[in-house]
Amino acid sequence: MEPILKDEFKGISDSIITWYEANKRDLPWRHTRNPYKIWLSEIMLQQTRVEQGLSYYLKFVKNYPQITDLANASEEQVLRDWQGLGYYSRARNLHETAKIIRDNYQGIFPQKYEDIKTLKGVGDYTAAAIASFAFDLPYAVVDGNVFRVLSRIFGIETDISSSGAKKEFTEMAQRLLNNQNPAIHNQAMMEFGALHCTPKKPSCNTCPLNKVCFAKRLNKQDELPVKLKKTKVSNRYFNYLIIRKEASLSLQKRKDKDIWSSLYEFPLIETDEVVSSASIVSVFEEGVVENIKKITETRHILSHQRLYCSFWEVVFRDKNYGDYAYFDIEEIKALPKPVLINNFLLQFYF
Ligand code: ADE
Repeated sequence: MEPILKDEFKGISDSIITWYEANKRDLPWRHTRNPYKIWLSEIMLQQTRVEQGLSYYLKFVKNYPQITDLANASEEQVLRDWQGLGYYSRARNLHETAKIIRDNYQGIFPQKYEDIKTLKGVGDYTAAAIASFAFDLPYAVVDGNVFRVLSRIFGIETDISSSGAKKEFTEMAQRLLNNQNPAIHNQAMMEFGALHCTPKKPSCNTCPLNKVCFAKRLNKQDELPVKLKKTKVSNRYFNYLIIRKEASLSLQKRKDKDIWSSLYEFPLIETDEVVSSASIVSVFEEGVVENIKKITETRHILSHQRLYCSFWEVVFRDKNYGDYAYFDIEEIKALPKPVLINNFLLQFYF
């Protein structure tokens, strides 16, 4: 099959932009050039679908209209507002970066690609998105959608999970970029991947590129992009202890370097398998636990982990046993918590 010529690149970009103008969703971050709002939307949309991120974006723009509002908020409040969106390190990085921009950049978002890229939580993709959408700088975005569109149109069979893939796809994306209009080009590429050149059942019959697309011509849509490394999913077993003191419950803040860092949860005993109440009791010195009862169990699915969770109501013989921190219901409502914990509280306590 003859390769696609360099001159054809402009035609391909133009076709995708024409498709975009006719089919794009009306999304709020597409009506702004404010780098703060664009940054916010792009951090939220990392690993998150538009439908899920939209209400959070609107909430953050309302609660924190300027980057200094975000910087001046407490981390706990920012995490509470982020609750349910997942990948909470994004929220912590967002808050930290807002403070750095307030303190080191006079509150003005950096305007150069290299400076944007130094911000915490901002990688190649996000830097290119902000630089192009806010400042019309000619940097091509490369996200999962772009990998798929490029691999299919140009027949790039490189494994997208391999180490060299990003460089190869970025070079291709950069060659295809419409330098006159990088913002529209980038939005169009992503939207085309999200709505038209979809992972399953792409709309090839109505595709403006179906005459040139490598995958369509060779009927290889289902084989491209090539992804050899499957995401590994692990099982974890969480035993949450529901410890009451009058109308308060014990909660603790999760530590760094794991899921849900800085969020609040019940005291946790993680085990290698599902365990009995006797195993939980045996964690404590003999005679400490007066009573234990499983309230409920649930499975919670994250992108890389399956959590098997048991909620144990534990009553200590000495009501002042241990150095647990207790919170009343109103305090608990205000704390940032994993959805799993919030759901349990909604069902049994709120
Ligand atoms: N996903 C990531 N960035 C996006 C954007 N700007 N518009 C729609 N979906 C996106």
